[in-house]
Amino acid sequence: MKYDNLIVKAIEAREKAYVPYSHFKVGAALITEDDSIYTGCNIENCSYGATNCAERTAIFKAVSEGYRKIKAIAIVGDEKNYTAPCGICRQVISEFADKDIDIIIVKDKDNYKIKKMNEILPDSFTKDNLL
Ligand code: THU
Repeated sequence: MKYDNLIVKAIEAREKAYVPYSHFKVGAALITEDDSIYTGCNIENCSYGATNCAERTAIFKAVSEGYRKIKAIAIVGDEKNYTAPCGICRQVISEFADKDIDIIIVKDKDNYKIKKMNEILPDSFTKDNLL
């Protein structure tokens, strides 16, 4: 499947998660417009609200390297469930994604669901609202 490599990268990134409070590891991997891959994990903080999700870690890494558009992003939490992006991450992904990009919600290497950006964040607030 075209996202096999991205899924493996998200699973590998999950191993780097810093999760002393929730013990819930999350990994993410995204593809940029020129097919570079950036990965991220969740990074918790003793001031819980300062925690950064895996998806945002990956996006901020890519954006800070100059990228402004992602073509797809895979997310993996524990192997018992499908872990979908939280609300804040949906908003952050949408800032750098067209409405029809694939969001790959992964349970394990062989089990994943593909959703469109627009499906997971319909009727969203966008930069156009600020014009
Ligand atoms: N988490 C993510 O990394 N991504 C999500 O989209 C959902 C939640 C993390 C944040 C926290 O470290 C842990 O999962 C439990 O909420």
